[in-house]
Amino acid sequence: EKGTYPHYMLKEIDEQPYVIRNIISKYQNENDTIKLDEDIRAAMTGADRIYIIAAGTSYHAGVVGKQLIEKIANKPVETHIASEFLYNMPLLSEKPLFIFISQSGETADLRGVLVETKKMGHKALTITNVPGSTLSRESDYTLHTYAGPEIAVASTKAYTAQMAVLAILAVDTARAAGVEMDFDPLQELAIVANAMETMADQKETLEQVAREFLSVTRNCFFIGRAMDYHVCLEGALKLKEISYIQAEGFAGGELKHGTIALIEEGTPVIGLATQEHVNLSIRGNIKEVVARGAYPCTISMEGFEEEDDTIVIPRVHEYLTPLVSVIPLQLISYYAALHRNCDVDKPRNLAKSVTVE
Ligand code: F6R
Repeated sequence: EKGTYPHYMLKEIDEQPYVIRNIISKYQNENDTIKLDEDIRAAMTGADRIYIIAAGTSYHAGVVGKQLIEKIANKPVETHIASEFLYNMPLLSEKPLFIFISQSGETADLRGVLVETKKMGHKALTITNVPGSTLSRESDYTLHTYAGPEIAVASTKAYTAQMAVLAILAVDTARAAGVEMDFDPLQELAIVANAMETMADQKETLEQVAREFLSVTRNCFFIGRAMDYHVCLEGALKLKEISYIQAEGFAGGELKHGTIALIEEGTPVIGLATQEHVNLSIRGNIKEVVARGAYPCTISMEGFEEEDDTIVIPRVHEYLTPLVSVIPLQLISYYAALHRNCDVDKPRNLAKSVTVE
């Protein structure tokens, strides 16, 4: 039920802090350690390489998941688009583990890969919002994202929930393998939930950004580096699917290799600057587009924000910034769609779960 909300999408965006707190409680033991199935732990530690398979927004969670598992658990990970995997199959390692990420658990492109890799004798873990779904039933293990039903076609809370579960999984794997670290995911996720609430309070500012920059534009660019780049991909997808504005997410440093030719007077560029170690270089990239006439909207993080930044997210662990920085992008897309009279919850040509190949 959407209650007093005009759209499911807005309600689901606002639910994200509760979803994260719910995930914390579901994955927490009484002594504050991580609660996770022993079999999953063994499958993760036993694998010499992880292959993440997903589509769309879940793929975007998967590219963040790769970073988390590699950085935290020190284990190599590849993330692949499900629909291409069987045609461009990489050389598999000796002991691979497949992770399928899917909100619905019904996506046919993922199921195709699951069926083939099972035939090859490989184990599969599905991370899904629907535990009784096809992918969940057909794989060896399931991790639940506990986001509650997601009704709007554009995925929001499922994406942040997937990343939260991936962070927990990464830390559990690291601890099981005795990897030293000072990152407590449950504590850090609690900080994230609070920061998410602060973002939801920025609706007026974000509505204004959408009205000023996105109500008539043909296109829009998202730029960022490191983890921010992955969030840019998701921000662009969100904007495309519900507002029909042509949007692209770019790595800040890649822009000058061609795409900068598209920047003209008034082109909206949404810049993400939440990663301290690349702050100077992304700031440079934003200046480059502004010098060519772009209208910038910058989303940065407390501690190294600048005066003209549009949104400053509260300080959260650098591994978890995507969970917070995506919220202003979700809201910008929502308001852009509203201002362009689009059907927010049911965008044209799209279905909530894609059960054809
Ligand atoms: C984007 C969106 C789609 C889905 C994709 C995968 O907002 O909803 O890109 O993310 O179709 O769906 P699931 O996660 O159900 O496998």
